[in-house]
Amino acid sequence: MSLSISSSFILFLLFVITPYVQSQPIAPAPTNEASPVNLTAVLETGHQFTTFMRLLNTTQVGFQVSVQLNSSDQGMTIFAPTDNAFNNLKPGTLNSLTYQQQIQLILYHIIPKYYSLSDLLLASNPVRTQATGQDGGVFGLNFTGQGQINQANVSTGVVETRISNILRQKFPLAVYVVDMVLLPEELFGNKTAPTGAPAPKTSRSSDADSPAADGDHNNSAGSSVKGTSLGFVLGFAWFCCSVVSYLS
Ligand SMILES: *[C@@H]1O[C@H](CO)[C@@H](O)[C@H](O)[C@H]1NC(C)=O
Ligand SMILES: *[C@@H]1O[C@H](CO)[C@@H](O)[C@H](O)[C@H]1NC(C)=O
Ligand SMILES: *[C@@H]1O[C@H](CO)[C@@H](O)[C@H](O)[C@H]1NC(C)=O
Ligand SMILES: *[C@@H]1O[C@H](CO)[C@@H](O)[C@H](O)[C@H]1NC(C)=O
Ligand SMILES: *[C@@H]1O[C@H](CO)[C@@H](O)[C@H](O)[C@H]1NC(C)=O
Ligand SMILES: *[C@@H]1O[C@H](CO)[C@@H](O)[C@H](O)[C@H]1NC(C)=O
Ligand SMILES: *[C@@H]1O[C@H](CO)[C@@H](O)[C@H](O)[C@H]1NC(C)=O
Repeated sequence: MSLSISSSFILFLLFVITPYVQSQPIAPAPTNEASPVNLTAVLETGHQFTTFMRLLNTTQVGFQVSVQLNSSDQGMTIFAPTDNAFNNLKPGTLNSLTYQQQIQLILYHIIPKYYSLSDLLLASNPVRTQATGQDGGVFGLNFTGQGQINQANVSTGVVETRISNILRQKFPLAVYVVDMVLLPEELFGNKTAPTGAPAPKTSRSSDADSPAADGDHNNSAGSSVKGTSLGFVLGFAWFCCSVVSYLS
């Protein structure tokens, strides 16, 4: 009887663990060129991008990036503001933005093309980002500096800051560290909106502008969660059956 219970417990454990074991072969994949680049993993190595990662998640831009990295042959360049950069914003800055504007802010940190630092300095200003206004105008970034000494400044018209570090510089993804949040003139300049009071959203039409707004919440992580709970349910059912048969 104790044999029956312990063997069913082992089976129960097997069912629970198996989905994890099956998903493990994904882990060594980063060395494999065919596997998509994982932005979250790149940012995690920096240990100072929790706010940026949270915003990538809440705006669903992170999901959009992973799809785009996998499907586009242009690659991508991302400017990652440090947690300090977000802490140094005027209090309430993020909260004063609508959800759409937060999406625009994050998209403003992304160029839909891979640039090495030296190529960035050769590109003609302004360089188009992923962010667009409600009128469809593309928000741009200006780059200045000297490629030879790997020094570049990025300017939005509202802020100018140095690219302080290179987190990753390998096609298809470049990730550069900035010590200031890149505030687009379109949202923070004083021609379009008074300071601290961004223009209110006038219609829902801009929702269509944002590929992030199409409500696709599916992600690959979901399948392993489903596998795990299926294993759990099967294992638990098996465990119960054994106990019942022992008792009867
Ligand atoms: C990307 O990396 C993060 C952290 O390392 C991990 O939690 C996530 O599952 C990975 N995503 C994919 C699609 O592999
Ligand atoms: C991302 O957001 C989802 C909900 O939209 C949440 O379940 C998940 O834990 C978040 N992931 C991270 C890494 O914050
Ligand atoms: C990447 O794209 C290819 C084809 O374009 C597709 O077969 C594959 O499933 C995609 N991988 C991910 C992780 O989205
Ligand atoms: C960016 O560069 C372009 C071209 O040199 C210039 O017209 C524009 O004013 C610059 N914008 C900012 C914000 O520096
Ligand atoms: C780059 O920006 C910094 C401010 O962050 C400024 O002090 C510096 O002079 C700028 N460098 C160039 C080459 O524009
Ligand atoms: C923005 O407003 C400040 C004062 O509030 C002013 O000094 C500055 O010149 C203005 N900038 C532009 C581009 O109008
Ligand atoms: C999410 O995936 C499920 C099955 O995996 C599918 O039925 C559903 O339509 C998907 N939802 C979206 C928004 O793609």
